[in-house]
Formats: sequence, C-alpha cells, structure tokens
Amino acid sequence: MCAFAVRVFLGILLCAPYQCLECPFGCECFAVTRTVKCVSKDLLTVPQSIPGYAKTVIITGNNIHRIGPHSFTELENVTNIILSNNRITEMSSDSFSALINLRFLDLSENQLALIHPQALSIPGSPLQELNLSRSLHNFTALTDLTTALRWGGLSGLLRLDLSGNQLTLLPPGMFSHLPDLQQLFLANNSLMAVYSGTFSGMSHLEMLDLTHNAFMTFSADGLQELKKLGNIRILLGDNPYTCSCEIRNFVAWLNESRAQVDVDAVKCASPRGFSDTWLRGLGVHALGCVVPVQAEVADLTLQTSYVFLGLVLGFVGMVFLFVLYLNRKGMKKWIIEMRDACQDILEGYHYRYEIDSDPRLGHISANNGGSMAQGHLGLALSQQLQSDTCIVQLPTDTQVKQLATSSTVNL
Ligand SMILES: *[C@@H]1O[C@H](CO)[C@@H](O)[C@H](O)[C@H]1NC(C)=O
Ligand SMILES: *[C@@H]1O[C@H](CO)[C@@H](O)[C@H](O)[C@H]1NC(C)=O
Ligand SMILES: *[C@@H]1O[C@H](CO)[C@@H](O)[C@H](O)[C@H]1NC(C)=O
Ligand SMILES: *[C@@H]1O[C@H](CO)[C@@H](O)[C@H](O)[C@H]1NC(C)=O
Ligand SMILES: *[C@@H]1O[C@H](CO)[C@@H](O)[C@H](O)[C@H]1NC(C)=O
Repeated sequence: MCAFAVRVFLGILLCAPYQCLECPFGCECFAVTRTVKCVSKDLLTVPQSIPGYAKTVIITGNNIHRIGPHSFTELENVTNIILSNNRITEMSSDSFSALINLRFLDLSENQLALIHPQALSIPGSPLQELNLSRSLHNFTALTDLTTALRWGGLSGLLRLDLSGNQLTLLPPGMFSHLPDLQQLFLANNSLMAVYSGTFSGMSHLEMLDLTHNAFMTFSADGLQELKKLGNIRILLGDNPYTCSCEIRNFVAWLNESRAQVDVDAVKCASPRGFSDTWLRGLGVHALGCVVPVQAEVADLTLQTSYVFLGLVLGFVGMVFLFVLYLNRKGMKKWIIEMRDACQDILEGYHYRYEIDSDPRLGHISANNGGSMAQGHLGLALSQQLQSDTCIVQLPTDTQVKQLATSSTVNL
C-alpha cells in the first residue's frame, strides 16, 4: 500500500504534468523526440488527444478497423504517421485532411477494402511518401485506390509502395495524377504484363521495382512503355521468364537499353535447359528462333512453287488456245468432215437395219452364207464413204460386225 503510494507520487513528480495528462491511454509519449507510440495495445480506434508537439505518431499492431473523418484532429506538427498492421479495412473521406504537414504515411499490412475517393486528400498536397505494401484486400480496393490517387490531389507524392498486394494488372493511367513520383514499388505482386499507358504521365520517375512478379516476357507495347521511362533504374529480377523465341525482343532491349536494369537477377526460369541462364546476351539461335524461321522459309517456298505452278498451267493453257485459234480454219473443216462422216455412217447403218428387218433378205443371207447381204451392204457403203475417220461399233446380231474403212471400199 505504502509502496504504491510512493510510486504514484514519484510518477506525478517525474513526468511533467501536462505530458502525463495529454498522453492518450495505451500510448507512450516522448516529448524530447516528439514521438507518440501506441504499439500492440489492442486499440479499436485511433487514440484521441495526441499531444500537439508530436511529429511522429506510431500506431501499430492494434485492431483499428476504420479511419474516420475525425480520427485525427488538427495536428500541425505531425509529419509522420505509421499505421501498419492494424487490420484497417475502411478509410473514409478526409481521413487525414487535418494533418496539414503530413509527409509520410505508412498504411502497410492492413486489409483495405473500402477507400473513399477523398480519403487521401490533404489541403496543400503535403504527402511525399505513401506505403500501401500488403494493404489492399482485393481488386475492388485497387480500383478504389486508383480513384483516390486521381482525386486525392497527391501531386507532391514522391514515393509509392504497392508491393505485396497480389496485383494482377494495373489500370491504365493509374499513376498519371502523380506527376512528381520518383520511386514506385510494385514488387511481390502477380503482374504479368505492362501495357501502353500503364506508366503514362510519370515524367520524374527514377526507380521502378517490378521484381517478384509473374512476368514471363514483355510485349512490344510493354517494352515501348519501359523505353518511355528513359534511362531510369528498373528492377526486373526474380520473374519467371520463359526463354523461348518470343522473348527475343525483350533480350534485344536488355542488350541495348541504357536503363539501369538489375540484369544479374534477370534469368530464365524455363525451359529446363535454360534455368538460371542470364537473359542478356542470349542469341536468337540459343532462343530457338531458328527453327520457326526455317519453317517460315519452307512455307514461303511452298507458296512460291504453287504460284509458279499456276503460272505454268496458265501459260500452257494460253498456248493451247492460241494454237487452236491459228488452226481455226482447219479445225472447222475437220469438225465438218467429222460430222458428215458420222452422218454417213449412221445413214448406212439405218439402211442396213432396213435390210435386216426385211424377212426376205434375211432368208437370202441365211442361205448364201451372208455373202450377198455383205456385198450389198458393202456396195451401199462404198458409194458414200469417202472419209477415213469414223469407226462404228455395230450390234452383234448383224452379219457385218465392224466397219473400219481407211479408204474407199470397192467391192
Ligand atoms: C508545434 O510545434 C511548435 C514548435 O515546436 C509549437 O510552438 C506549437 O505550439 C506546436 N503546435 C501545437 C498545436 O502544439
Ligand atoms: C513499406 O512497408 C513495408 C512493411 O511495413 C516495408 O517492408 C517497406 O520497406 C516499406 N516501403 C518503403 C518504400 O519504405
Ligand atoms: C472485395 O472485398 C469486398 C469486401 O470483402 C467485397 O465486397 C468485394 O466484392 C470484393 N471484390 C472482389 C472483386 O472480390
Ligand atoms: C510476398 O507477399 C506474400 C504475401 O502477399 C508474402 O507472404 C511473401 O513473404 C512476400 N515475399 C517477399 C519476397 O516479399
Ligand atoms: C544480345 O547480344 C549478344 C551479344 O552481346 C548477341 O549475341 C545476341 O544475338 C543479342 N540478342 C538479341 C536477341 O539481340
């Protein structure tokens, strides 16, 4: 009892009275270093009545779910706030707008799901560094953040950390309202591609960290976008690059670029034979670009040969038509003769048919071995057939089976 009284008395005596009164419950206040620390105290809200001299406020490891518009009252001396690891899910409008000199805001390791478009706006845009590493709950939070970056008036921001947020894609122009940004950390996400417009509007960028993502290669658009950033420091290591022919443009860029790339960490992850091979310096032969090139050539040869074949056939056809044209008179004559000959044969056949169908003549032919009928028919034909071209197959029931005349038949 006595010891307790002494302790209380000493406590009142040792700390300056206004400090002890002003330091919020669960926090430690250090007037000399102008720091307030509220660490791992299971606080549910941001403590009120933070002393006005405070420059740095550290509130970490608590259970604060929400930052409201009145969470921070006017504190002109506060420049740094660290709110990491607090399970914050929601930031409402003007969460920090009373902190008119806030330069450094660390919101890392939270679970932000709802971010008001005005959540980050502070009059005069004092904010220079924003740490949102491992703090976005899902893709909805990313779109919220994109809006907040657009409407937050963060024109003075120099450093932005968005690492470890499982980001798969970045909305185009996401950073275009951060014209002064110098360092952008996007490490440890799941980014697979850079598109044209991804980094638009950033004219002062000095460092871009894309390590530990899911890049397998960079498209022509992506490389163009990286080129636009100029000769800045670009970290591209620890991505699962696939060293097939498709990566050759990226290799060529690595070969030539004057950007400061962490080339020692830019290695192939697959195929197996290439694992841990440095990308820079790889040749097109090593990348297996030669086989597709040969296939292309073969394809081209095939196409060429088809075209050539077509031309030859066309030429032959034209020659044929031309010859026909030159011989048009002879052809006409030939066709007419042909027609006449066939007509004659048919007439002859008709005549013979009439003979055959006459029972009296059939009787005669049967008795005289057919010689009379043959002679009769031969005579009839010899009077008319002058041509040498017509071959006619006659029915087998007749006595004259075949007539092939090569010259005038004279019996
Ligand atoms: C901020 O700090 C200055 C100088 O240290 C001091 O004079 C002023 O009172 C502080 N502001 C508040 C609100 O305490
Ligand atoms: C952001 O916070 C994380 C974790 O708190 C830390 O590891 C990282 O270094 C910070 N980023 C910057 C740019 O300081
Ligand atoms: C993100 O999380 C919030 C809150 O849990 C949820 O309402 C929203 O539907 C989620 N969005 C996506 C794309 O999963
Ligand atoms: C990447 O992020 C995941 C969770 O987002 C974490 O578990 C892992 O430790 C991080 N890795 C590195 C190398 O930062
Ligand atoms: C990269 O450079 C090396 C020589 O430094 C060269 O052999 C290789 O063909 C280049 N690769 C590409 C894809 O241009």
